[in-house]
Amino acid sequence: MAEVSFVYGLSLVSMSVIPGAWRRTAAGAGLLATNGAVAPTIFAEMSALAATTGAINLGQGFPDEDGPAEVLDAARRAIADGLNQYPPGRGTPDLRLAIAEHQRRFYGLDVDPDTEVLVTVGATEALTATLLALIDGPDDEVVVFEPYYDSYAAAVSLAGGTLRTVPLRAPDFQPDLDRLADAVTDRTRLILVNDPHNPTGAVFGRDVLAEIVRLAELHDAVIVTDEVYEHLSFHAPHVPIATLPGAAERTLTISSAGKTFSATGWKIGWIHGPAALITAVITVKQFLTYVGGSPFQPAIAVGLRLPDAFFVDAAAALAHKHELLGAGLQAAGFRVFAPQGGYFTLADASGVGGADGAEFCRTLPTRAGVGAIPMAAFLSPAHRADPEYAGIVRFAACKRVEVLEEAVRRLSVLQG
Ligand SMILES: Cc1ncc(COP(=O)(O)O)c(C=O)c1O
Repeated sequence: MAEVSFVYGLSLVSMSVIPGAWRRTAAGAGLLATNGAVAPTIFAEMSALAATTGAINLGQGFPDEDGPAEVLDAARRAIADGLNQYPPGRGTPDLRLAIAEHQRRFYGLDVDPDTEVLVTVGATEALTATLLALIDGPDDEVVVFEPYYDSYAAAVSLAGGTLRTVPLRAPDFQPDLDRLADAVTDRTRLILVNDPHNPTGAVFGRDVLAEIVRLAELHDAVIVTDEVYEHLSFHAPHVPIATLPGAAERTLTISSAGKTFSATGWKIGWIHGPAALITAVITVKQFLTYVGGSPFQPAIAVGLRLPDAFFVDAAAALAHKHELLGAGLQAAGFRVFAPQGGYFTLADASGVGGADGAEFCRTLPTRAGVGAIPMAAFLSPAHRADPEYAGIVRFAACKRVEVLEEAVRRLSVLQG
């Protein structure tokens, strides 16, 4: 019998024998070692460390208390009422209507719930399905602001596209418009924006948004905007890029219920934009998950229709938590970059022995009983050693006040 030469071999000890798109996905995320092994994400590593040391985990961004009771009750009711089978492929008509109503109520956007809205399994699926749908090989470039939410680079690589990054620098983390203009060319298929921004907490200025639209028009690129923190902008109402003149016809707007309603585990997201682009995305999405979360969809429709006070209070409560955390970090010796929006506060740990942010985050749970994430987790492999980011670490503020108070008390051991 001929020598067996199955691709997968009999010994799966080495990942390097397994071919497939997973490899470029891992490489894009910076998780592929030269020996072919896949490293866990820094988030997984830091969460495991926090768990084994009993540290307060300010690494991963999920709230530690439930969202509005009306929304939770609506999900329970939906299960009791038997809404437990596949919903329609685009999402339940009422949730799509609630999304369209929400976009009109908060932003004056005119969205057709039947042809211009797609409900997805979180913003993550909306992003990945969009990239898979609209990228067609390595000549297609995706311009992304860096640091970036980690799924962006992984999904661009999975889609086979090329990532081109524009740096966001401390202290305000707004992009340099000349560098942005240099990055966007006729090869740019998509400009991927995240506003309010994770991890920096930046809310992009109107000049930045206008320049993105100008460049997208000039080079005929599609704008994909991840606005999952849309209701967590602290100093000014959120401005969706789709509201700028000329933007709506080339913009796919993505959001999610997770952050707004403290329901990150429900994974209800959505995307809206021109019908033809939505059709392209649904073509891919239907073969990824088809649909998801049927009893949660009516519940999120209830959430999106909550009175203004809910949204205002949610932003104010989170802003207060950031102030508490920021003051504690500053008192402990960090240089704090106060966020304008989102779940996270960035701080430079160089003054408390953290010139190497990754190493600092590995020892922080044992030194101070708190977990955080180094900036390196949000940088492309080529930029992980950039000295401008070296000491910066990310803390999640989306925790109960008493948990943050305890974290701040613990961090005070770092003081000189
Ligand atoms: C910027 C950004 N986009 C997308 C997501 C993922 O959203 P979802 O949980 O709805 O998939 C997150 C979650 O942390 C995020 O921070």
